[in-house]
Amino acid sequence: MQQIPTIAELRERLAMAGTVAFVPTMGNLHEGHIDLVRQARAHADCVVVSIFVNPLQFGPSEDFDKYPRTLDADCAKLEGLADVVFAPAVNEMYPQQQTIFVEPPPIANELCGAARPGHFRGMATVVLKLLNIVRPQVALFGKKDFQQLHIIRQMVAQLNLPIHIIGGETVRAVDGLALSSRNQYLSVAERAEATFLRQTLSNVRQSILDGAKDYAKVEAAAVAALAGHGWPVEYVSVRNRETLIQAGRADRKLVVLAAARLGVTRLIDNLEIDI
Ligand code: PAF
Repeated sequence: MQQIPTIAELRERLAMAGTVAFVPTMGNLHEGHIDLVRQARAHADCVVVSIFVNPLQFGPSEDFDKYPRTLDADCAKLEGLADVVFAPAVNEMYPQQQTIFVEPPPIANELCGAARPGHFRGMATVVLKLLNIVRPQVALFGKKDFQQLHIIRQMVAQLNLPIHIIGGETVRAVDGLALSSRNQYLSVAERAEATFLRQTLSNVRQSILDGAKDYAKVEAAAVAALAGHGWPVEYVSVRNRETLIQAGRADRKLVVLAAARLGVTRLIDNLEIDI
């Protein structure tokens, strides 16, 4: 496996590499990322993983500075799984001030976007840059960031990028907590409590499978349950899985998404529901 810091070297390395499957990450890799990298192998001759903590997608009061940077440990985990790790410095990705951005669709202002203005614009912009740099045939993203995956699929479709996007299933700890780099911010007590988010989403799913159709009521009950456990809740929302628009009675393919805080840590999760 080769670690490459510059775009020029990466392009040279990939020139004769055959087909490329790409897993963009911000590093601090866990089994969720590794699962995507393993899947990538089945899709192309060469597997590229990028590790880049993208300043453009963090708000001024967010955790950009303290976001865990663990490049050596990440590369050790990727040994034997990836062919190339592209780990550029900020100056390599943004040699001049970025004044051109991807304008994501209005859904980017809802759900996570409501509390994180500009997040999806910064995310989509760096993903487009990375896709242009790596030029893969296939790119893989985790379904845990369901809204992110939706926006990337829209970007790829609407900008006619010749790339097949694959969504990887959320990888969970044995107690159900979705793996996330931010889980390490949790105290021991918070880590034990953190499973309540998934449990609450499972309860939402069960209510809907049992026939509940008043989704606003189901969402309100989930918010109250989390608040009752001391979680400040950003949202719990039942959406159409394809459009991410508020689910209506006729929708059969749903997803319930949630974001809530536990202490200083913001956790997100989602569950798909087929009725
Ligand atoms: O999901 C992430 O880790 C990031 O948002 C991504 C897609 C690598 C873009 O910076």
